[in-house]
Amino acid sequence: MNAETKRRVAASAAGFALPRYDQLPTMGLYLDQTVQYVNSHFRTFPGMELTGSMVSNYVKKGLITHPVRKKYMRDQIAYLMYIVAVKNVLSMENIQMLFAIQQEISTAERAYNTFCAELESAIGQVFGLDAAPRPTDSDLTGYLHLYDTWSSYKPEAPAEILVASASIHGHTLAAARTMAEKLRAAGAKVTEIDLCRTDVSYAVAEAFRCGKMVLACATYDGFLFPPMETFLTHLKTKNFQNRIAGLMENGMWAPMAAKLMTASLTGMKGITLCEHIVSIHGAVKASTEAQMDALASEIMARCAAAD
Ligand SMILES: Cc1cc2nc3c(=O)[nH]c(=O)nc-3n(C[C@H](O)[C@H](O)[C@H](O)COP(=O)(O)O)c2cc1C
Repeated sequence: MNAETKRRVAASAAGFALPRYDQLPTMGLYLDQTVQYVNSHFRTFPGMELTGSMVSNYVKKGLITHPVRKKYMRDQIAYLMYIVAVKNVLSMENIQMLFAIQQEISTAERAYNTFCAELESAIGQVFGLDAAPRPTDSDLTGYLHLYDTWSSYKPEAPAEILVASASIHGHTLAAARTMAEKLRAAGAKVTEIDLCRTDVSYAVAEAFRCGKMVLACATYDGFLFPPMETFLTHLKTKNFQNRIAGLMENGMWAPMAAKLMTASLTGMKGITLCEHIVSIHGAVKASTEAQMDALASEIMARCAAAD
């Protein structure tokens, strides 16, 4: 590529920005509108293009869900934006596998927003652009507000609940999912993190962001299953404090997880532990469902009292 072409490509790349999830159309779009909308964001880059038949093919292959009354909604558009960006370098099978992993560990909103930020930053680096926009005065106010929130150990989202689990075989993970659903059904906004599949830095960030958390862990040779141990060690190192926490443990012969999580959390300042503890022996049974209902009610009552 000669210097002039490079300069032109870099100049087009400089203006490249994708709409974030909350800027995607909230009303569904028909197929041709969807194709037009997605392509309008990738005009800078020839070859990154969508057609109607590609979309129908992705639906057929199960990469995106079927349109609702012929309309594509926000999640489907977000997935299509991702597919357009990566389809030249990843096979459909790989994209399908990535979507399955993403759907286990994150919401479409969070995954899509992370993808947008990463793509914009990568393009900036590839073309030698200053990827980080200079903060304006109003941005700085936001940063200062965040710094003030984090440094005083206040949550950014006091009403939100993090459900973090560490499971060997999957029973504790399934129980954590059920608990998350119960909390959602009671009106809470919940983020789920599988500590075995998510880098601990994301879990720590979510713990600092949310006002409440539920920790679910399997007992492992008399100790916590290591991903939970690691998570709690990071929280302790970062002086984590001032949160409400509910506990769920799993163990077949001598469950220890709740006791060990309690010891760890009581070593941190201002952590209020819920009285109801869920103790599971293997898979969730009717008796554990009742314990989970009691813990969910207690957390929701504590949320109401704290807000
Ligand atoms: C390597 C290993 C060590 C375990 N250690 C204990 C233990 O010390 N005490 C106990 O009650 N259960 C112990 N268990 C049983 C698990 O806690 C139990 O199988 C639990 O259901 C696992 O939950 P999960 O399906 O979420 O992995 C152990 C299981 C494994 C595989």
